[in-house]
Amino acid sequence: MGHVLLTGATGLLGRYVMRNLLLADTPMAVLVRPSRRNSPEVRVEAAMRSWEEQLGRSLPRPVVLSGNITEPDFGMSADQIKWAAENCDTLLHNAASLSFVSTGPKSEPWRSNVEGTRHVLNFCAEAGIERLFHVSTAYVCGLRHGKVLESELDVGQEFGNPYEESKLQAEQMVRSAEHIKSLTVFRPGIIVGDSVTGMTTTFHNFYAMLQLTYTLNKQRGDADFSGVVPASTVQFNVDGTERKNLVPVDWVGEAMSQIVLNPALHQETYHLTPRVPVTTRLMRDVLEDVVGFYGVDFYGAGQRQKTTDEAVDLFYEHMQVYNSYWRDDPEFDTSNTQRALPHLPCPHVDYQLLSNLSRAAIDRRFSWRDPAVEKAAPVAT
Ligand SMILES: NC(=O)c1ccc[n+]([C@@H]2O[C@H](COP(=O)([O-])OP(=O)(O)OC[C@H]3O[C@@H](n4cnc5c(N)ncnc54)[C@H](OP(=O)(O)O)[C@@H]3O)[C@@H](O)[C@H]2O)c1
Repeated sequence: MGHVLLTGATGLLGRYVMRNLLLADTPMAVLVRPSRRNSPEVRVEAAMRSWEEQLGRSLPRPVVLSGNITEPDFGMSADQIKWAAENCDTLLHNAASLSFVSTGPKSEPWRSNVEGTRHVLNFCAEAGIERLFHVSTAYVCGLRHGKVLESELDVGQEFGNPYEESKLQAEQMVRSAEHIKSLTVFRPGIIVGDSVTGMTTTFHNFYAMLQLTYTLNKQRGDADFSGVVPASTVQFNVDGTERKNLVPVDWVGEAMSQIVLNPALHQETYHLTPRVPVTTRLMRDVLEDVVGFYGVDFYGAGQRQKTTDEAVDLFYEHMQVYNSYWRDDPEFDTSNTQRALPHLPCPHVDYQLLSNLSRAAIDRRFSWRDPAVEKAAPVAT
């Protein structure tokens, strides 16, 4: 068996997939770009040590390739390209920009999601890689209502933001690539932290709302005799009934890894979405409990109340980026996922679990740090 080349190994989901595949003794290579401070090798080593600390055992290391998907051949050296062509027979394309706003077609999220996927496909052609796993999103459905099938993609839907549209274009590209002989597509819902440990390395969507309300609440700080802060001047511009498909990252990573490791499950499209979505009312209740305020009203979807409170105005301004995300989700059909993984139901993101995830994020001050690493093995040449 050849190496599986994974993109996005330093991201939230990529870390889980990397860990799971290594635990299953899969030969792996990871394509990672340098950060402002650290080389790709140091970044991967730090993520691996973080797993080793959590698991209390040692793990094998992947081969590290230094590259950026926005560049042709990922900007890799000739030796690295040669190594990948000789050793990798599978590519798991998970890297993406999760930016919901864009300044134009040459910027993010188009650059990484569309140009990046084009480079991934060209690289597969050059390196003779015919097996591709592509991480898409359930939200390629855009603003659709009703039931969305795993077999559907472009039905002329509109989009809530450039991210959704860029991911649709990426999925269309991988589907029409003739040199890919085996294509498996994963479409996760909104990924939240680990259902057991609460771990998350990113703080988008629900976490953004949590962080804003937490900060706002701390600034106001005027708890009444009950010990919590009255917040009756704050309105959520949702009506409480909107359903959101939150999925814990450990489940998404496990589902993907089991499918990658079982060839009988390849060449399908999988909605990795929960059995029961979370309502915005439940999110409000969790926020009130965990952050320590009460009295927030629902103000109706898309509405915004005029206020004279600067902090509340700031809250609305920040939340605007996610406006498209607070609409009611469609119903995602999960027939393929249920058939493939009947033994692996998605953990319910209920009041308790969402509260635990929220407390874990607050405890970690909405940031994630891997252990410090001075030196790491050199990249493959
Ligand atoms: N998070 C969600 O709610 C969600 C929901 C549905 C689908 N997805 C999909 O799941 C996948 C993983 O998402 P995630 O939540 O794990 O995101 P994440 O934590 O932001 O990780 C993104 C990963 O992609 C890498 N990456 C981005 N642009 C790159 C570039 N130009 N070259 C090389 N690497 C690049 C990042 O590298 P750096 O560390 O260098 O930035 C990081 O490793 C994505 O395809 C995303 O669209 C996510």
